Amino acid sequence: MNPAWQNLRADFPILNQQVNGQALVYLDNAATSQKPQCVIDALVNYYQRDNANVHRGIHTLSMRATFAYEAARERSAKFLNATEPGEIVFTAGTTDSINLVANAWGDKNLKAGDIILLTEMEHHSNMVPWQLLAQRTGAKLRYLPVVAGDTGLLDLTQLDQVLTPEVKIFAFTHVSNTLGVINPAATLCAAAKKVGAISVVDAAQSIGHMPIDVRVLGCDFLAASGHKMCGPTGVGLLYGRKALLEAMPPYRGGGSMISNVEYFESKWAAAPQKFEAGTPNIADVIALARAMDYLDDLGREAIAQHDEKLAEHAYARLANEIPGIRMLGPAHHRSGVISFDLPGVHAHDVVTMADQEGVALRGGHHCNQPLMRKLGLSSTSRASFYLYNTEAEIERLVATLQKIQKFFAG
Ligand code: ALA
Repeated sequence: MNPAWQNLRADFPILNQQVNGQALVYLDNAATSQKPQCVIDALVNYYQRDNANVHRGIHTLSMRATFAYEAARERSAKFLNATEPGEIVFTAGTTDSINLVANAWGDKNLKAGDIILLTEMEHHSNMVPWQLLAQRTGAKLRYLPVVAGDTGLLDLTQLDQVLTPEVKIFAFTHVSNTLGVINPAATLCAAAKKVGAISVVDAAQSIGHMPIDVRVLGCDFLAASGHKMCGPTGVGLLYGRKALLEAMPPYRGGGSMISNVEYFESKWAAAPQKFEAGTPNIADVIALARAMDYLDDLGREAIAQHDEKLAEHAYARLANEIPGIRMLGPAHHRSGVISFDLPGVHAHDVVTMADQEGVALRGGHHCNQPLMRKLGLSSTSRASFYLYNTEAEIERLVATLQKIQKFFAG
């Protein structure tokens, strides 16, 4: 066994606590992951030793900060197998990255009559920025459907029908934050390319959970957040193919993104600096790179297998041991996100009562309102697993849901 996996929970100090008198079982990883001590240390070290602004000072601290910040860009490029560090733009997170593409690429390249293709399982963050773009340009939205029933798989038989030559952008999630479905991202990117559309992959739920190689995926853009992959909140990245980034206008103006400013006009710096106006989120970018090291020490393939094993086990246990439960998403070949509906018990009640037992779940529409309506639900309860979760915690989840069901049965 890889020694990095031994005693792994000790790397996460937050897990070692009681909530409402019970040992914490943290199963809300799709909302945000916990942070290992090495990531916390990276933040503290930066502020204790190196804190200075980047790209503008020539004193020692500024050079140290600049070096670490740009080293994090190299690390990110390597993490995704991008062609070069210049293909990585640091952002505030997935939502920010998608808005960047919608504004900078979309405003320049879309016109009335063009189609933006999405899927029916998108998070609001991969829907609303495109709705705004459609309103600005007169382009139209179209959706690749999810098959009928509860497996949540995309209906790929309809792909050719919806991916017509008028489609200019195909934006889709790699892993559904509600259904746990892993979409065939490489196939979808290749299909987009065939009709001349750009592909935008929302990797919020996949980047920390499986190996990702942007060249194997063949995507044009990939958006991700740090906080779901053991990194800090408020930081994320956009991978963009170099030629596309170079041809795009800036999204936000300010310091750092210019090469020359006159009173009435300015010239931009080259990509990626063109997209990083103002003082960037230096400390969090540096800590994000540390999180990438942490994940690679464990092995991303091993993390994917761990997630899948737990999710399949939890799915089967809940389906067999909780009478009447409605399970969403596929039973196999899935990510660590499990959504379910306990008939007669609102998801908020499930989550509130689970919290009394020390079990952290999420309940609600999960920023998936249209999908919920399609499924005939207003909300689900969700347990989402990550590298530090254990089978013993699934035991606690099952016992907790049984207790909740018994309570509501009177
Ligand atoms: N997108 C995050 C979730 O699904 C917040 O919980």
